[in-house]
Amino acid sequence: MPKDTVTLTDNSTGKSVELPIRRGTHGPAVVDIGNLYKDLGMFTYDPGFVATASCRSTITYIDGEKGVLLYRGYPIEQLAEGSNHLEVCYLLWYGRLPSKAEYDSFVDTITHHTMIHEGLKDFYSGFHRGAHPMAVMVGVVGALSAFYHDFLDINDPMHREVSAQRLIAKMPTIAAWAHRYSRGQPFIYPQNHLGYAENFLNMMFSFPSEPYTVNPVAARALDLILLLHADHEQNASTSTVRLAGSSDANPFAAVSAGVGALWGPLHGGASESVVNMLKTIGSVANIPKFIERAHDPKDTFRLMGFGHRVYKHYDPRAAIMRRTCYDVLKALNVSDPLFEIALKLEEIALKDDYFVQRKLYPNVDFYSGIILRALGIPTSMFTVIFTIGRTVGWVSQWNEMLTSDERKIGRPRQLYVGAPQRDYVPLEKR
Ligand code: SDX
Repeated sequence: MPKDTVTLTDNSTGKSVELPIRRGTHGPAVVDIGNLYKDLGMFTYDPGFVATASCRSTITYIDGEKGVLLYRGYPIEQLAEGSNHLEVCYLLWYGRLPSKAEYDSFVDTITHHTMIHEGLKDFYSGFHRGAHPMAVMVGVVGALSAFYHDFLDINDPMHREVSAQRLIAKMPTIAAWAHRYSRGQPFIYPQNHLGYAENFLNMMFSFPSEPYTVNPVAARALDLILLLHADHEQNASTSTVRLAGSSDANPFAAVSAGVGALWGPLHGGASESVVNMLKTIGSVANIPKFIERAHDPKDTFRLMGFGHRVYKHYDPRAAIMRRTCYDVLKALNVSDPLFEIALKLEEIALKDDYFVQRKLYPNVDFYSGIILRALGIPTSMFTVIFTIGRTVGWVSQWNEMLTSDERKIGRPRQLYVGAPQRDYVPLEKR
């Protein structure tokens, strides 16, 4: 019976080490290099962690070659069709689908955690009105640990559950109030009779001075966007939350670090960059010129919303988003010239050798902005919407990290290429 190991030989010394192979449910096996440094005196080297597994996880699985995305084993297409964001939150946190009674109880719990401490309201007034709402999100989410001290024992499962529920419940309120503050508009409080996405849209767009009813098409579309963004394996922001949480930092501090990582235009900030890019392209006629720019390694222009570290096939979330674009624009009777440009851009790029050779396909961010524009969400709020959706993924992965039998503080090593050791030269001798 062949041994489930790989042998690594240092040909400069002839020294070898045998390393165990670990196999999962789906996807590539891994080589456990835990003894590599002890036995061979070397580290592995993998900038950007392109071929490095950082943990064992049971939460989400992506097959980048086939364009498959599973949340706790359930295909994203089936969840998009038959579930909703809060049920997916239950699934990601508890690892199984809820019964009707469990679902209703979970929704009730989340609903009754949507208010935030009144002291946090004053916190907003310290921000510049023109601040990017993601700057407000980083600050206010981090500040939650200054207001919610009562359930911060990260070794207590119930404390972790309450903190996770607080984050899932309060993120829409924090987000909507960031938007209202930027417009000088009054904060609208959560309404417990409204659904999760409906409540957010009400806090975003209603006014105390007149009745307001959330369009159910808009609420369903937003709920779907949140569901599609809920989790995605060990992406940059989730890895940030795991690393921050591995020092036993409180969940609000760890998630605040994740918010900061998500903000980057190469990650969650891409949805905002896609719409700005489509506006810059301006017309279908201009597309070829920008495709050429994307080819040019010297040109910093990239086709935002295209390409992915894992997906080398169509991002299944993008396919669902594109279908939803049609439905929402039609139902809301909105025609958006940017959608036409996006569809044509995708059609041309998918036939272009540069993109085909590099297996660059539309990702989750390519179409989401078109839908959010149709819902009246300002472009600067797109990554904030991503933050609301991804919160459950961050806290579920954080919880998994803390309950793992491999739990330890994350502390990568390096290849040192700096100056050799040398003696200090006093100033008068330089
Ligand atoms: C998200 O990790 C996740 O799961 C993230 C996410 C999640 O749900 O958490 O899916 C959400 O972040 C989606 C990605 C959103 N970002 C963008 O849309 C920004 C545009 N895309 C890229 O910058 C890029 O594709 C990345 C950052 C997404 C992935 O980068 P990689 O894996 O490091 O790949 P790379 O930069 O090494 O690119 C490989 C080649 C390069 O060309 P060569 O050096 O081989 O000649 O492809 C080129 C790149 O120049 N390339 C692009 C491109 N993306 C990659 N060229 C033009 N336009 C692009 N969009």
